[in-house]
Amino acid sequence: MIPDEEIERVREAADIVGIIAESVPLKRAGGAYRGPCPFHQGKNPNFSVDPRRRMYHCFKCGESGDAFSFLQKRFGMDWPTSVRHVAERSGITIREVSSRREGPDPRDRLWEVNAAAEAFFRDVLRDRPEGSAAREYLAKRGMGLDVAERFGLGFAARDGAVRAHLATLGFDDDRQLEAGLLVRRQESDALRPRFRGRLMFPIYDVSSRVAGFGGRVLDSGEPKYLNSPETIAFTKGRMLYGLNWSRNAIRRAERVLLVEGYFDLLRLVMAGLEEVVAPLGTALTAEQAALIARHSKNAFLVYDSDKAGLKATFRAADELLRHEVSVRVVTLPPGEDPDTFARKAGREGIERQLAASVDVIERKIQLLERGGWFSDLHKRRRAIDHLLPTIRATTDAVTRDMYLGRVAEATGVDRKVLTAEAEAADSARSAPEPPRRESSPARAAARKEAPPSSRAGRAIPGGDAERELVRVMVTSRAMVDRIAERIGPGEFRDARYREIFERLVAASPEVLIGDVASGLAAPAVAELEKLLEEEGAIMDVERTVKDSLAKLELRNLQDRSMQIQRDLVVASPEEKDALLALKQANAAEIQMLKASIMPA
Ligand code: UTP
Ligand code: MN
Repeated sequence: MIPDEEIERVREAADIVGIIAESVPLKRAGGAYRGPCPFHQGKNPNFSVDPRRRMYHCFKCGESGDAFSFLQKRFGMDWPTSVRHVAERSGITIREVSSRREGPDPRDRLWEVNAAAEAFFRDVLRDRPEGSAAREYLAKRGMGLDVAERFGLGFAARDGAVRAHLATLGFDDDRQLEAGLLVRRQESDALRPRFRGRLMFPIYDVSSRVAGFGGRVLDSGEPKYLNSPETIAFTKGRMLYGLNWSRNAIRRAERVLLVEGYFDLLRLVMAGLEEVVAPLGTALTAEQAALIARHSKNAFLVYDSDKAGLKATFRAADELLRHEVSVRVVTLPPGEDPDTFARKAGREGIERQLAASVDVIERKIQLLERGGWFSDLHKRRRAIDHLLPTIRATTDAVTRDMYLGRVAEATGVDRKVLTAEAEAADSARSAPEPPRRESSPARAAARKEAPPSSRAGRAIPGGDAERELVRVMVTSRAMVDRIAERIGPGEFRDARYREIFERLVAASPEVLIGDVASGLAAPAVAELEKLLEEEGAIMDVERTVKDSLAKLELRNLQDRSMQIQRDLVVASPEEKDALLALKQANAAEIQMLKASIMPA
C-alpha cells in the first residue's frame, strides 16, 4: 500500500509532460504543451498539457485529468501501478507501507516521543496543580477545558518535569533532543526542556500524528509563541495547522478559511466554522498553497486587520492564485483578529464579514483608490506596479482576464498596455531602480523584503565613474573639496565608494589615508586598499573628473528617461503630451553630455 502523503508527494512532483510525451507528440504552446488528443483520436492539437497545474485537457472531447488518470484511462493501469509509474518517471522513490517490515519510517521515533510528551502536557493542564495558571489563562480567554481537550492542548510547566517523565518511558535524551523537546544550552552544553511555562498546542500532520508543538507564554514574555524546530517529522513549510481536523469540512463547505494563529483557528471552530487552517507562523509557502489547492479552490483570508496582516494577506493571495485558488479577503474591524472578533460577534458576525469579503484584486484596488493612488500620474504608475504581481500570479486564463479588465477600468489604463506589462514578467525587477522619491506600497514592501545589500555583486551603471572619482580623491587630496562642491554622497550607488567619499570629505587634507580607512566598513577598506595599490598616476586629473561627473549626470538623465517611459505607458492622452516634451528635452541633454565625454 502507498500512504496518502506519498501519493501527494508524487502528485506534486509528477512530470506530466514527460509522461504524456512518451505516447503523444507534444509541442510547446505558451506555458503549456499541445498535441493530438489520444482519447478521441483527434488530428488537431486540441489536447493540452499544463505542466504548472499538472493536468491535461482536451478542448474537443473534454477528457481531462492528472498524470495518474492519464495512465489509467489510456493504458488501463490500476491506481497503485499508475502511482508507481509516475513516481518512477518523475524521479521519486516512494515508501510503501508493505516495505515497512524491511525499514521502519525514521519519523516513527519522533512521533512516539511527541505523542508521549503530548499526553503528559495534557495531563498537567487537566489535573495537576502545576497546571492551574494555564487553566486560569484559558478561562480568561474564554476557552473551556472541553475545547482544550478537543484540540489536544496541554501545559509544559516551568519545572521541565516532562524530561524525567519521558525518560521513565524509555525515551532517552538523544531522542528528546532529536524531536526538539530538549535544547542544548550554548554556554554550558547542558540539555534542558525547550518548552517551559508554556501552553502547548500539538501540531498534527494530516494523519493526526504529533509532528511538533507550538507553545504560548502565559504572560507577555518573548517569544510569544515558541515552535518546535524543523525535524524530519516537522516540516513547517509543508504543513498546515488544523488540516487534520478540517479536511472533510473544507470539502463539504467547498471553501477554506485561512487564519494566522492557533487561537484564531480554535475560536472559529468553536463558533461552528470548521473549514479552517492556519499556516504555521510563517508566510504561506508554495507547498502550503498547493496543499490548500488540493482541498478547495475557494479561499477566504481572515487575517489580522493591521498593516502586517494586510501585507501577509497579499503575499498569501498571490501564492494561492499561482495554484489556481480564488482568493477573497475578509476585513475585520480595526484592532480585531478572528479570535477576538468571533469571541464577541459569534458565528453570525463572522458570516457577515465573510459575506462582505471581496476578491483580492478588488481589495487592492479599494485600498489604492482610498489612498488617492489613481489620481496623479506617478502615483498611478506605482499603483499599477502594486497590482501587477497579483495579475501575474493568476494562472488561469479566466481570472487573469477578469483582473486585467478590472484594473483597466479602475486605473483608466488601456487593457492592452496592462496585458503587455503583465506578460513582461520580471521586467520590473531587472529595470534599474527608479529615483528614490516618494514611497509606494509596492516599493515599501519590496524594500522590506530585499536583502540589505541587494546591489552587491551586480554591476552598477556608472560604477566606473564612481570609482574614478574616488580614486582621484584618494590620490590627489586637493581635489576632494572641488569634487564635493559638485556632488553629494547620494550620487554614489556603490556603498563602498559612498562611504570612502563621505570619510574623505569629513577628514581634513592632512589626515593620513590610513586614518581615513580606520573607520570604514570592511568592504570599503578592501576597495580603498585596491585603489591605493593601483599602478600608475592618473594622466589627466581635470579631464578624469570632468568626464566622471558627466557620466554620473548621464546616468541620472538616463534613469529619468526610463521613468518617463514607464509613466508614459499609463498616461492619459493629455498627460502624454507633457511627458513627450519632457522626454525630448531629456534626450537632447543626453546627446549633449555624451558628446562632451571623451571616448575611452
Ligand atoms: P500573532 O502575534 O498574531 O498572535 O501571531 P495571535 O495568534 O493573535 O496570538 P494570541 O491570540 O495573542 O495568543 C499569529 C501566529 O503567528 C505565529 C503563531 O502561529 C501565532 O498564532 N507566531 C507568532 C509564532 O510562531 N511566533 C511568535 O512569536 C508569534
Ligand atoms: Mn490573537
